[in-house]
Amino acid sequence: MCGIVGYVGTERSLRVLLGGLKRLEYRGYDSAGVAVIDARSGRLNVAKRAGKLGVLEDELRRHPIGDGATGIGHTRWATHGGPTDRNAHPHLGDDGRLAVIHNGIIENFAALREELDAEGFTFTSETDTEVAAVLLGREYRVAGDLAEAFRRTVARLDGAFTLLAVHQDQPGVVVGARRNSPLVIGLGDGENFLGSDVAAFVEHTRRAVAIGQDQIVVITPTSVRVTDFSGRGVEVEPFEVAWDAAAAEKGGWSSFMAKEIAEEPDAVANTLRGRVSEGRAVIPELTDLDDLLRGIDRITIIACGTAAYAGHVGSYAIEKWARVPVEVELSHEFRYRDPVITPSTLVVSISQSGETMDTLMAVKFARAAGARTLSICNTQGATIPRESDGAVYTHAGPEVAVASTKAFVAQITALYLFGLHLARLRGTLSAREQAANLDELAAIPGKLERVLESSDSIAQLAHWMSDTRAVLFLGRHVGFPIALEGALKLKELAYIHAEGFAAGELKHGPIALIEPGQPVFVVVPSPRGSDEMHKKVVSNIQEIRARGARVLAIAEEGDVSVLPFADEVVRIPLAAPLFEPLLAVIPLQIFAMELATAKGLDVDQPRNLAKSVTVE
Ligand code: F6R
Repeated sequence: MCGIVGYVGTERSLRVLLGGLKRLEYRGYDSAGVAVIDARSGRLNVAKRAGKLGVLEDELRRHPIGDGATGIGHTRWATHGGPTDRNAHPHLGDDGRLAVIHNGIIENFAALREELDAEGFTFTSETDTEVAAVLLGREYRVAGDLAEAFRRTVARLDGAFTLLAVHQDQPGVVVGARRNSPLVIGLGDGENFLGSDVAAFVEHTRRAVAIGQDQIVVITPTSVRVTDFSGRGVEVEPFEVAWDAAAAEKGGWSSFMAKEIAEEPDAVANTLRGRVSEGRAVIPELTDLDDLLRGIDRITIIACGTAAYAGHVGSYAIEKWARVPVEVELSHEFRYRDPVITPSTLVVSISQSGETMDTLMAVKFARAAGARTLSICNTQGATIPRESDGAVYTHAGPEVAVASTKAFVAQITALYLFGLHLARLRGTLSAREQAANLDELAAIPGKLERVLESSDSIAQLAHWMSDTRAVLFLGRHVGFPIALEGALKLKELAYIHAEGFAAGELKHGPIALIEPGQPVFVVVPSPRGSDEMHKKVVSNIQEIRARGARVLAIAEEGDVSVLPFADEVVRIPLAAPLFEPLLAVIPLQIFAMELATAKGLDVDQPRNLAKSVTVE
């Protein structure tokens, strides 16, 4: 939520800032703004506009501002105060000489505002951020130095924040601080960068440093200094970003989402790479934790949204293979229900961004309660893996479209690998079973390519259905979370009411929703798995069909049992039953994307959403 970029160097900063904001726009697109120190006049110039980045870019074309080598930029997902020009960041100190941008929520802003009101300061926006800007201005007049004033300011703030600031009296300096929100440094040659994530500067440098909790950074063109909030120096460890700028470009694709769906075979293949040895799952990052993993007696998976559905799919495999009880819980629910946690509980968090505040807080809560924690994450340098005992990275590459697609299949792959790694440690699967499951996983990328070949027919179906008002999704066993995910994709992209149900639940209520013409997607389990389960789902199809439903079945190749009852059958290649979700989800992702496209909607940036939910 909210994208932040800072630059100091030799170049004109506007180009760098706008380029960075373009890549960070997935984090929020309610408004955008920049502040640069004009190289000619030495003054601080600010431009900001409600709406997407394009609105600000138009404004800057119509009314250019003087540029310079120091600046900050912001793209907003509104929390305090609506998405207006006035509430857009940057916010200025009372004398207009300094500018601040912010991601997060300053929880004590009302008390601080009261204090500043009483001293006669005035405010022009409804944001919590402006309070930090005014406070910083007051501290600057006392300290006479931006870094020191900034340190004093952040020490007064409660809540979650990443803050960046520049002051026109100190060109060549950008200061930043983080508490519970992300901030990464980009190390350049004669220039340095700050960003909410590496996408902000990967076009200019791939050397990065993740800033830790409650730390402050001061960058100049030739130096980077990191301290804690009390001013003590902190050692930092640079890392190399694993992907380049081209990976975060749309290329020739109509949308990031279309590109990311096409990248799903690679997301799975890359997540498997280097983690299979002689027919056994061996995750090198976990070898230090093997003793700990041998000692666990329960696993709780925590995540939100799509990541939680990946967790739900993974829970079936981990429990079956490693014979450990696994429960899945939404991060925000887990934390507030006083769960039973012991030192032998492993809490596995799943997060594409690694910054989701609900999940981060749940991980911290679990650790404080004595659990061991493992993070499954797609983003290097992110906070959640840093706050966990261990991390397994998914290698899906940067996911830019707000709706998660390739990260989902990569998360399931990582969970399956983890389940097999754990089963090996616990001796719960024979060598033959290990190898057979790994063969299934290894075959998934090729099968995904085949599913993608049927994209056009799904697109056609979606376009025919573009005036649909509600869609239901049914699934059973691992097909159930796929039904939930199919419904979520349709809601968030096409703004259509959609619900996913466990097929067995139908007769306990949801069947009342079926009326003539009601479209229902049914994820049909493989007849080669549990014959009984397959038959039950086919019976469910007959029941809804008898009540007039329009049945859209997702069934494996050669399953003719659905033909008499389904209006449309989308085929997926044969796979062992546990592996079907990796294939069955693709048609549902494509369907949602195409239906949204048919309605003329922006599939990369759906309304009201942001990719990285860094507020609770
Ligand atoms: C839906 C979607 C969200 C995220 C959720 C968790 O398409 O993208 O539901 O899955 O906000 O995000 P991460 O994985 O970054 O923690």
